[in-house]
Parts: sequence; structure tokens; C-alpha cells
Amino acid sequence: MAPHTSSKSRRIPHAALALLFLPVFFSVTVSQDTNSKRGIAYMNTQGPDNALLLSSQSPLSWYYNWSPYPNTPQIPSDDLEFIPLIHGIDGAEDQQTADAINRLPSSSRHILSFNEPDGTRDSGGSNIEPEDAARAYNDHIAPYRNGERKWLISHPSTTGSPNGLDWLQRFNASCYEIDEENGCPTDFIAVHWYGAFDGLASWLGTLDEFYNGNTSRSEPLRIWVTEMALPQADVDATVAMMNQTLPYLDQLDYVEKYSWFGAFRTDDANEWTGDSVALFDDDGGLTNLGALYLGGEANGFRTGQKGDVEGAAAHLHANIGLIFSLLVGAVLFLSR
Ligand SMILES: *[C@@H]1O[C@H](CO)[C@@H](O)[C@H](O)[C@H]1NC(C)=O
Ligand SMILES: *[C@@H]1O[C@H](CO)[C@@H](O)[C@H](O)[C@H]1NC(C)=O
Ligand SMILES: *[C@@H]1O[C@H](CO)[C@@H](O)[C@H](O)[C@H]1NC(C)=O
Repeated sequence: MAPHTSSKSRRIPHAALALLFLPVFFSVTVSQDTNSKRGIAYMNTQGPDNALLLSSQSPLSWYYNWSPYPNTPQIPSDDLEFIPLIHGIDGAEDQQTADAINRLPSSSRHILSFNEPDGTRDSGGSNIEPEDAARAYNDHIAPYRNGERKWLISHPSTTGSPNGLDWLQRFNASCYEIDEENGCPTDFIAVHWYGAFDGLASWLGTLDEFYNGNTSRSEPLRIWVTEMALPQADVDATVAMMNQTLPYLDQLDYVEKYSWFGAFRTDDANEWTGDSVALFDDDGGLTNLGALYLGGEANGFRTGQKGDVEGAAAHLHANIGLIFSLLVGAVLFLSR
């Protein structure tokens, strides 16, 4: 619909040209900052809450939901990059998983592999022996790197307990038994952390040392913190922990992305983490923590704010921009 650069276009009045820039302005205000490291671990958040998470000032750039199936249409694929996760060996072997991943729009570029293989199924883990994980990883997950679509894939994400490091060492040894030269190739590392800030910083340091301390790679492997929270603490302590953590992760070069657990209402928080980790209160208002995670006052988010109004307004503006663009295009076309 853009005017041609032929002589005809010189006859377009300036006012019409100015109108042409409106949609550009509006679409800039609704697109998310894809350089932002911040994302969400998504758990069926309700409509108005989604409107806040997706609104124009939200710093979120990506999400995942522990499965290969995206939450469309609730979360449009051009708003946030959806990251599929292959939870365990069953999923890795299942053709439906591959089909779902191959159907994803081109905005999806990364894949997360086995979720907490050192953890029990009761707690959401996949409980896989490192030897079995290494075999399934090289048979079913590594090939995504070299197919028609070149996916970037992560190693399994363990729990943040000492078992996690032990599991990764055994996994690595098994990988090199299977493939003496390449082990289990990976593009990035996914980690989980539940606890205080100091422990998180130390766990990240340990994994950076493990993966990047003695390597011939030219670039360090980047780390994604795909689950983190301070469990079983009161609201003030949780807010303080997040307030210390976000700027730390934002400036740490080897951290590429992170997501807080979790983007749900206090009602839906599980017993183990406790209510203080929730980004929304029971009525869908942002908690202190939720407002902080979306960037606080600087981004126009305040405690208690609900999704409906502003979220709808952002989308309305986007639509007005689109309608203008179509109208102006039609007028220009008809007046040729
Ligand atoms: C993985 O195992 C290989 C082969 O034994 C070793 O060279 C490499 O340093 C190990 N990597 C890590 C991160 O431990
Ligand atoms: C790196 O790994 C090699 C082989 O495993 C080992 O000989 C060397 O001492 C290690 N270097 C450091 C700095 O850890
Ligand atoms: C976050 O930390 C900064 C200093 O780093 C402090 O000024 C601010 O008050 C803190 N905010 C909250 C909500 O704790």
C-alpha cells in the first residue's frame, strides 16, 4: 500500500504523507522490546492479566509453558517469542511433539529440553537417569539444530540443588561416551533457582564455571534462568530479592534471558512456593512484585493496577493505526 516512488507520488498532499506515518508510530508503541531478557513462565493467566503482560510498556519478550504447544490466541506469537519445552523422554520420542514444534511460527527460535531430570515427577521434574537422558538428547533433541529449521537448543535444566551439578557431570560423561568428539551439543543452558539472591548469584557462577571455565568455544554459552523465585518468604523479602536480582541479571553478560515464577494470581500459587511469588492478587491487580517485574512506575505500572482498561486501549490504538493505514492506502490508490 505504500506509494510508488514514481512521479505520481509527488502529487500526494503533505497531510496524507503525515498520516502515513501514524501507523508506524502506533505499531512502534505496541511492539515489545525483543532485546529485553525478561520473560514469563506462563500458567493460564486470565484475560485482563494477559492484557497487562502484553501491554505496550511491558518489558516481556518471551514466554514458555513447559510444553511444545503455544498459548494462542491468548498470547499472539508476534508479541512474545514462544519457547517450546520437551519435558521428558516420552515427549522427545513422540511424533506429536516434533509436529507441534515444526508448526510454530518463525518467531520461535529456541527449544528447552528436559525439565528437572534430577527431580521427582511429584515436583514437576522428569526423573531421568543421566545416561538415558544423554541417549535421548542425542537421538531426538540434538537433530533440531541441523534440520531444515536451525533451532537453538538448551541442555536439560536441573534443579538448583547440589544434585543438579552432580547430574550434569554424569550427563556430560555419558554424552562423551556416546559421542567422543561432540558430547551432547548445545546452544544455551537453562537453569532453575528457588532461594535467596546470594544463592542465585553463586549457582550461576558455578554453572558458568562448569560450562565456560575450561572450553575451546570462542563465545561463552549463555544461561537462561527459566524458573526463579524466593519461596516461602513474606512479600517484603520477596520484593527485595527480586529488586536485587533483576538489575543483576540484566547486566550479567552471560545471562541471556530469565523468567520469574510465576505469572499467576495468589490463588493459584502452589503451597510450596507460597503466595508471595505471585505477580497478581486474587482480583487480578498487580502485586508489588508484579508491578516491579513489569518495570514499575517508570513503565507506568503500579500496585493494584488491573488489566482491562489499559490493555484494551493499547490494542485499540494499534487497530486505529492499522485502519488509518488501510484508509490512506485506499484513498491514494483510488485517486491515482
Ligand atoms: C565433559 O566431558 C568431557 C570428556 O570427558 C570433558 O573434556 C569436558 O571437560 C567435560 N565438560 C564439563 C563441562 O565438565
Ligand atoms: C581443562 O581441561 C583439561 C582436560 O580435561 C585439563 O587437562 C586442564 O587442566 C583443564 N584446565 C583448567 C584451567 O581447568
Ligand atoms: C530497589 O532497590 C533500589 C536500590 O537499588 C532502591 O532505591 C529501591 O527503593 C528498591 N525498591 C524496592 C521496591 O525495594
